[in-house]
Amino acid sequence: MELTKEDKRWVDGVWEKIDNKLKKTAPTQRGKIPYTTSAKKFDGMTEGVYCDMRELDVTWWTNGFWPGLMWLMYIGTKNELYRSAAEDAEEILDEAFADYDRLHHDVGFMWHISSGVNYRLFGSHKSKVRTAVAADILASRYNCEGKYIRAWNEDKVGWVIIDCMMNINLLYWASEEFNDPRFKYMAMNHADTVMRTHIRPDGSSNHIVNLDAKTGEPIESFGGQGYAVGSSWSRGQSWAVYGYTLSYIHTGKKEYLDTAKKCADYFISRVKDDWLPRVDFCAPAEPVYYDSTAGAIASCGFIELYKITGDSNYLDAALNILKAMEENFCDWSDDNQAILLMGTERYDDEKGRHISIIYGDYFFTEAIYKLKGFDMLFW
Ligand code: GLY
Repeated sequence: MELTKEDKRWVDGVWEKIDNKLKKTAPTQRGKIPYTTSAKKFDGMTEGVYCDMRELDVTWWTNGFWPGLMWLMYIGTKNELYRSAAEDAEEILDEAFADYDRLHHDVGFMWHISSGVNYRLFGSHKSKVRTAVAADILASRYNCEGKYIRAWNEDKVGWVIIDCMMNINLLYWASEEFNDPRFKYMAMNHADTVMRTHIRPDGSSNHIVNLDAKTGEPIESFGGQGYAVGSSWSRGQSWAVYGYTLSYIHTGKKEYLDTAKKCADYFISRVKDDWLPRVDFCAPAEPVYYDSTAGAIASCGFIELYKITGDSNYLDAALNILKAMEENFCDWSDDNQAILLMGTERYDDEKGRHISIIYGDYFFTEAIYKLKGFDMLFW
């Protein structure tokens, strides 16, 4: 990664601040799975102190981000504190397997960057089995006629969401690991379907589309966590940017790279005034609702796009977003166990607006980790 001296100094400084913060937070999270530090989110919370998803819902889709964050820090510092925190959380996640009927397509988010990283680093058999079971669960959600992976349960048979472009990386891993192309076929068929049903000609993305289970043709799209039907939810847009970039990395299929670039160019065109992402790029100008998590995720995609294409616009976009967010949205004090402020779960929910969310810290740190030159790809 070729950074100017000034950028390198900035990256090193931020990395040190992340390490300083997480060294303090990690010991407080033993036996727990952190999610948000915002008191308005759940009853009885103290502002700045993480809630515990082990207690609230161990199957919650974000529960792999804490161990994933600990692995990023372990690789970057070799501090055993982080390894043992990651392994502690990985053990807790076994409780989610016991709740199998409540699991969903986000098993990719949950196990690819927790047990999956542990296995790739240390070859533990237990971690390999956990990751393989998660891949099997994801594969079991594949619809071979409609050629997509269903997101959720109950009657949502045809609901496909853009977020799943991150989960399918677990299937690419399983194909490689078990030398079995079936997993990759499912992942690629899903990515092909979503390119047709979710990505619009201007590079923006639908969040949720209900597909005909037999034909894979779109029946209806929903606004989901964004502003409205047909709008552009910025985190969904960032899942598309990073997801298609990763699908290109895993398959070499050029259409995935073209799609990733198209989605990235759209994102950049909507954020370049101040580099602070709004929750939805099509929402009214007022009130201003931000989502820092979208900026962190998209930055990871932009950095990988830069590495693939050599186009410095992508690196500049990542640096501009990360710097703007560091200046405006990071809390390095001891008042908050989390780092990144101003994440938003969904447009219309006040309790989940402008809060710290674990995947914000995870992807912000992953982006800095990439800029530091660590090259083990977690996804
Ligand atoms: N639905 C997952 C997310 O909030 O990005």
